[in-house]
Amino acid sequence: MYVDIGNALDAEPRLTRATLERLDERVADAHDRIERGRADAAHGYAALNLPDTADPDAVRAAVDRFDDPAAVLTVGIGGSALGAATLAEALGGDGLDHYVLDNVDPAHVDALLDSLPLGDTVVHVVSRSGTTAETLANFLIVREAMDRAGVDWTRRTLVTTGADGNLRELAARHDLPALDVPAGVPGRFSALSTVALPVAALAGHDVDALLDGARAEADRLAGSLFDSPAYAYGAVCYALERRGAAINAMVPYAESLEYFAEWFAQLWAESLGKDAVGQTPARALGATDQHSQLQLYRAGPRDKLVTLVRPRERPRIPIPETDLDGLAYLGGGSLGDLLDAEFRATEASLAAANCPNVRIELDRIDERGVGELLYGMEAACVLYGELAGVETFTQPAVEWGKRAARGLLGGGDFEEADAVGEKRRLV
Ligand code: PA5
Repeated sequence: MYVDIGNALDAEPRLTRATLERLDERVADAHDRIERGRADAAHGYAALNLPDTADPDAVRAAVDRFDDPAAVLTVGIGGSALGAATLAEALGGDGLDHYVLDNVDPAHVDALLDSLPLGDTVVHVVSRSGTTAETLANFLIVREAMDRAGVDWTRRTLVTTGADGNLRELAARHDLPALDVPAGVPGRFSALSTVALPVAALAGHDVDALLDGARAEADRLAGSLFDSPAYAYGAVCYALERRGAAINAMVPYAESLEYFAEWFAQLWAESLGKDAVGQTPARALGATDQHSQLQLYRAGPRDKLVTLVRPRERPRIPIPETDLDGLAYLGGGSLGDLLDAEFRATEASLAAANCPNVRIELDRIDERGVGELLYGMEAACVLYGELAGVETFTQPAVEWGKRAARGLLGGGDFEEADAVGEKRRLV
C-alpha cells in the first residue's frame, strides 16, 4: 500500500509538515503502546496479529466440505458481514455469487430468498456474540425457507461465532460445523479472520496471499509516521480532524472497492466516534461521484479530508476508435486510462481548491493488495484512536441500541428499553 499525504499539507484546514514532525513523538509513544498490546494479545490489538495468528488451513478445511456451491450467503451484521462483503466484491466470485443478509427489512429478505438457489447455497452465519437479534432472526428465516424447499440446511450451513451465546448453542444442537471468532478481535477488525476468510476460500481465492499482504503492512509499522504508510494516514486523519476536517470522504476509483468504503465507514465511525471526537466517514465512488458529491467536497464547507484510492494496474479494455473528430481523444486509449485521468483530475481539482486529500494506491486489487489495504486501514484506525485517547475497541453506543431493541421485544430486562418509551415529543 502506498500512501501519499502531500496534498493533505498546507491546505484548508491547515496542517503543516512541522506539525506532523511534532506529532511524530506521540506517534512513537502510540506505536509502543500498540506493540505492547499486540505482544499481550490484548483486546483489539490482537486483531493486528491476525496475519500470523489466523489459521488458513482451518478455514479451508471448514469450507472444503461444501461441494462446488453456486452461491454463498453471509448472514451477519456490521463487522460480521462487511468484511466478507468487501472481500467478495474486491476479489470477485469466480463463479460463486455472494449475497449478504444483514438488514431485517422484510421486503428485502423476501426478495433475496426468492432469488437464491437455496439448494445450491452455502449459508455462513456469523455472530461474535451469538446473540445479535437481526442475525439470529434472519438465520431462522433462511433455515425455514431451506426446510420448505426440501433442502437439508444442516448440510449447507457453516457457523462462525464466539465461545458461547445462542448461535454456539444452536450449532452444537444441530452438529453444525463451527469456526471460532478469534479472541480479542472486535467485529470491525475481523475481516482477516474466520469471520470473512471462509467466503474468500469458498471462491477459491488465495487466503495465504491475503494474509501475506496484511503481514507486509504489519512489518511496515514503525515508530515514525514518516516510515509507516498506515500510520502516516492515521496521523494525518487525526491531525486534520483536530483542525476541523470533521469528515473523511473515502473515494475508491474501482467499483470492486465500493464495499471497502462501507467497511471503512464502519471501522472509522464505530472505533473513533467516542467522547465527542471522531471523524465522520462519507462514502463515494470515483468516477461516478465526480458527477455529484465532488461539487460539495471542493466548494462546500472546509470540514473535509478526501481519501482517493486506486490500483496502479487495471484490466485493459480498449476504447474503440471512431471517425467522430470530437471523440478522437478517446480512441486508442483504454477505460483504465480514462478512469485514471478522472482520478488525477479530481485530485488536482481538490488540491487547486486547497481541499486536503490523500492518495492511497495498491499495485493491484488482488488478494495481496486487499490484505495490505484492510490491514493498513485497521492500523491507521488504531493509531488514530491512540492519538485521540479513545477506546478504539469498544462500541457502547451500538450495544445500547442492541439492548434497547431486545428489551422492547421481551428478550431480556434491559433498562435501555425504558428510554424508548420516553421519546421527546413536540407539544
Ligand atoms: O464491530 C462490531 O463490534 C459490531 O459491528 C458487530 O460486528 C455487530 O454488532 C455484530 O455483532 P455480532 O458479531 O456479535 O453479531
